[in-house]
Amino acid sequence: MKLEEIFNSYKEYIMPTYTKVPLVFVKGKGSRIWDIRHKEYLDFFPGWGVGSLGHCHPKVMQAVRDQVSKLIFIPNNYYQIPQAKLAKELVRLSFAGKVFFCNSGAEANEGAIKLARKFGNGRYEIITFENAFHGRTLAALAATGQKKYMDGFAPLPEGFRQVKFNDIAQVRSAISEKTVGILLELIQGEGGVNVAEKQYVSELRKICDEKKLLLIVDEVQTGIGRTGKYFAFQHYGITPDVMTLAKALGGGLPIGAMVVRKEIADTLGPGMHASTFGGGPVIANAGLAVLKAIQKEKMLENAQVMGAYLFDKLALLKDKFPVIKNIRGLGLMAGVELNIAGKQIVEKCVEKGLLINCTHDTVLRLMPALNVNKKQIDKAIGILEGVLREAAK
Ligand SMILES: Cc1ncc(COP(=O)(O)O)c(C=O)c1O
Repeated sequence: MKLEEIFNSYKEYIMPTYTKVPLVFVKGKGSRIWDIRHKEYLDFFPGWGVGSLGHCHPKVMQAVRDQVSKLIFIPNNYYQIPQAKLAKELVRLSFAGKVFFCNSGAEANEGAIKLARKFGNGRYEIITFENAFHGRTLAALAATGQKKYMDGFAPLPEGFRQVKFNDIAQVRSAISEKTVGILLELIQGEGGVNVAEKQYVSELRKICDEKKLLLIVDEVQTGIGRTGKYFAFQHYGITPDVMTLAKALGGGLPIGAMVVRKEIADTLGPGMHASTFGGGPVIANAGLAVLKAIQKEKMLENAQVMGAYLFDKLALLKDKFPVIKNIRGLGLMAGVELNIAGKQIVEKCVEKGLLINCTHDTVLRLMPALNVNKKQIDKAIGILEGVLREAAK
């Protein structure tokens, strides 16, 4: 297909729900990706957080091939081996619990909301946070609570109370006899890479213990090594009651998961919740390959070292360019807050062969693959520096 043909087909046949960048990608390898014109880009935002292993990791490709040639799908009323192995590994790496598999982040959060309501036995209200993002399905959207996403879709499910992030007094005063849980991202990704404070998170844990509330962490974006640990909660010295995952877990294939603390994991019994495709054998085998590759190739260590390197480089840019207001993040999840709109900076970076993202209008988001190297970071920073220099003129 020619470029014009592709764009026209989208215009004609695909619903216009995405703001699109006029690029057609055809091939990827690690942190590099090529468009249809053979132009190479450095991908510092692979798959909106999906590409923690970079593009087309060989171990993921192999795991998919192996499983596809044996059994592509078997529904969840039967047993299969890859799902059993993946669940065991997720629990080993996180906390003593059980896993429910689904297909996306929103679906994992929907599951967590249903679990909380069942656990609540009449209590149903969940406290969520300003600038949160939990997905686009109706309950996940209500939990997200941002006007720009909710407009036009009323009525949304009830049962969410939104408070300011990193403000413990607001949480305390939002709790009522109806409250059953607290749902948060430990680093708000879409909301501008806002990092939860350590003391605040341990207070949240205490409150949940005191009031018998579920602490639900949405690790859809922060999970699977993004912050330099398997899960962001591991930086905070707490254990959640429920953790939701998606994005990077499938190495590029669609998966969602909710890990639930063992004592409450049987709250949802047979027939209460389901997902036809959830944790099918191919995707589960891919997930297992992701977790193995992270361990074998020491990607957490790399994410810590390269994360520190990236943040050092960004700090130097901040010293040079007053347009940078603030730098936030952890591991390889970096937000660069500007005092100008980020859209034009992202577009210029793309022109020069660097893919990054802008969220919350002014926050550039860099989330390179966990196996990124120094040379690639230097190159990305060089491009960003050039673009910021031009913008400062
Ligand atoms: C923290 C968080 N939760 C949930 C979601 C929704 O995930 P999905 O798009 O897979 O439904 C996202 C997506 O960006 C996210 O960042």
